[in-house]
Amino acid sequence: MIPVCRIEDLPEGESVRIEAGDATAPIAVFHTDGAFYAIDDTCSHQDASLSDGWLEGCYVECPLHAALFDLRSGEPTCLPARKPVRTHAVTVVDGMLYVHPATQIVPGQPVHAAPEEAVA
Ligand code: FES
Repeated sequence: MIPVCRIEDLPEGESVRIEAGDATAPIAVFHTDGAFYAIDDTCSHQDASLSDGWLEGCYVECPLHAALFDLRSGEPTCLPARKPVRTHAVTVVDGMLYVHPATQIVPGQPVHAAPEEAVA
């Protein structure tokens, strides 16, 4: 698991890009609709950084060609993106936000955490 930041350092409506090491691509972490979400930072269409995109509820709009991705599933909801991005589980422990990089997409798996959630 990768530490991101303290939850107060990622206010509602904000995002941050983190380097996840050699094992995986950069990850974008979002705080929106009362929860935290993490997806691959690189758009599946070209090389735009989704952490630079615009949040609309549980969706982020790619800043380059405006594909919209669902933060809960990683699925694009419109062209020009056709492929999903990976989602990554997030947890909050003692006010610290962590990302658990995924190795694959697991449909239906919970991938987000509310600020008050904690893992013992
Ligand atoms: S790079 Fe994201 S939609 Fe084209």
